[in-house]
Amino acid sequence: MTEVASVLYGREDVRRRVEELGRTITGDYVGREPVLVTVLTGGAVFLADLIRAVDLPVETHFMAISRYGDAEESFGRVQILLDVEDDLAGRDVVLVEDIVDTGLTSRYMLSVLGARAPASLEICTLLDRSVRRIVPLLPRYVGFDCPDTFVVGYGLDYRERYRNLPDILRVDDLAALRADPDVLAPLLTDAAA
Ligand code: IMP
Repeated sequence: MTEVASVLYGREDVRRRVEELGRTITGDYVGREPVLVTVLTGGAVFLADLIRAVDLPVETHFMAISRYGDAEESFGRVQILLDVEDDLAGRDVVLVEDIVDTGLTSRYMLSVLGARAPASLEICTLLDRSVRRIVPLLPRYVGFDCPDTFVVGYGLDYRERYRNLPDILRVDDLAALRADPDVLAPLLTDAAA
């Protein structure tokens, strides 16, 4: 492991937690057919594993939104680039997020989805970095509480890199990653990562 980043949640911890979340969602939505909506691209990895841990008929949809700036500094001004085409009225919708940080993205997504008159609307986030929250927002399902450190892996990127790392890494030296965005590339090919 380099000094730039270290494992925060290893792949086994993530697998176990995703299975637990899947079981909880299964119990909470029994007899119903929830619609899981995620925001590309970060949430796609989590959603792919989560739906296989839910023992119910589910629908999955992807949305894409524009952000001004990098993921490292997320902003609230967004625009829909890809939308859910199906009617969500009367459906039980779960917004699946990779990480809720300031909460601005989630608040925007909740307002967009809420306007479609779902029967229920909840957030399931893999990571909750509540210390950085700007808008009050309590996700119903949380995988892990995330410290106030930038993270990559398991869908989360730095400049579109590292989404395919199986572990979630905390970036201990963000200056080094900024200076060389490929500095963690050896981890992608290192089986012992
Ligand atoms: P929010 O609007 O501040 O809650 O930001 C949410 C989005 O910012 C997430 O869906 C991620 O795409 C991105 N983001 C926030 N923190 C991180 C991080 O530590 N690593 C990678 N992406 C992040």
